[in-house]
Amino acid sequence: PAQALIFDLDGVLTDTAQTHYRAWKRMADEEGLPFDQHVNEQLKGVDRMSSLEIILRHAGRTLSAEQKQALAERKNGYYVEAIAEVTPKDLFPGVARVLEQARARGLKLGLASASRNAAALLDRLGIAGRFDYIADAARIDRAKPAPDIFLDVAAALGVAPARCIGIEDAAAGVAAIKSAGMAAIGIGDATTLAQADACLADIAAFDVDAFVSP
Ligand code: BG6
Ligand code: MG
Repeated sequence: PAQALIFDLDGVLTDTAQTHYRAWKRMADEEGLPFDQHVNEQLKGVDRMSSLEIILRHAGRTLSAEQKQALAERKNGYYVEAIAEVTPKDLFPGVARVLEQARARGLKLGLASASRNAAALLDRLGIAGRFDYIADAARIDRAKPAPDIFLDVAAALGVAPARCIGIEDAAAGVAAIKSAGMAAIGIGDATTLAQADACLADIAAFDVDAFVSP
């Protein structure tokens, strides 16, 4: 049976996948870079600089390292500004119940977010204390879809990957979970997340007891 749940954050526990999108879109519009929700699908779960690279490639724009740094920082400024308004009310419905169900079953809880803003966002959401371990994206070698961040969390929790369930809204994240040798629950579109072992429309549809046999 599973012994740990490892959650992604943005787009799984709260709607910040959209907040990231709006921050990128604001920067892209200012720079005249064509960017839309369709391109944004490829950005989900991807780290900050790689996300900018995807936007630039799609727009056919080449920039210097300094220019890229400046654009990534500008986007992050917009994002940080937006999450300063986040409160526990912004948790997706069902999150508190899922965390309680997991705790009641004695499961370890980990967080595997690619975001350097994850700790601050968890604080704003009021759930930082609910996790046994929160990965620091800045200290992870290879970003999703590499398995590194999920393996880091499993090791810190002291649970074998085969006993972990990863929960992700991004194709890159589901790929990372699978390559870590874990079971994957996709949150969102089953076609986009075809690699997941199970796919749910949203976290509210996650019944921990149904997934974790006693
Ligand atoms: C991921 C998001 O969780 O974090 C991506 O899905 C985002 O959209 C990435 O780019 C990095 O976030 P940050 O806050 O470090 O720029
Ligand atoms: Mg996500």
